[in-house]
Amino acid sequence: MSTGEIVYQEDVSGVNWKDLAEVYNRAPLGKLDPGKLRRAYSNSDVCCFAFSGEALVGSGRTISDDEAPATVCELVVAPEYQRKGVGSAILRSILRKLAVPRVILACVHGQQDFYRREGFLSHESVMALYANTQWFVDNGNLESGESANIAAAYSD
Ligand SMILES: CC(C)(COP(=O)(O)OP(=O)(O)OC[C@H]1O[C@@H](n2cnc3c(N)ncnc32)[C@H](O)[C@@H]1OP(=O)(O)O)[C@@H](O)C(=O)NCCC(=O)NCCS
Repeated sequence: MSTGEIVYQEDVSGVNWKDLAEVYNRAPLGKLDPGKLRRAYSNSDVCCFAFSGEALVGSGRTISDDEAPATVCELVVAPEYQRKGVGSAILRSILRKLAVPRVILACVHGQQDFYRREGFLSHESVMALYANTQWFVDNGNLESGESANIAAAYSD
């Protein structure tokens, strides 16, 4: 299918969060609550939304304190628009706007080559502590082994 012209916007105004939740669901990048997506994007430092006509077809966001490495939190493109350059256009748009020249991200397992093509390298010493550790182990994102559960480790 032809994607027609894709228009990119940084502003969260006018974004239909239910539509974005649907893009996440179909991409797939998980079932997310539209209200939580609104809060996450509204509190992010740099956002980018891709539209094909009226249709929201992709997005990405980063958070930063303008000192430490910025974090790319999510990048998502609707399935029928994937592999057409939309994801890399969103990523390049948000990276161009960062105030710091360092950026990290936790990639969905299997998408590493997309980021490698954009110049990212695997960071061997990055570590993580999650509440749902086992899910990340089962999905190949975390090494297996004795692991603390953040909820258990840090709850009062
Ligand atoms: C990952 C994702 C954002 C990439 O967006 P996209 O619009 O499909 O990517 P692009 O078309 O811009 O890809 C740019 C290049 O990378 C390639 N590429 C895309 N995904 C790839 C992958 N998983 N592995 C290897 N190469 C990939 C494309 O073929 C393209 O190459 P080309 O320039 O030679 O044609 C999109 O596939 C997606 O939303 N996936 C589901 C959700 C997800 O996993 N998000 C990532 C969270 S970390």
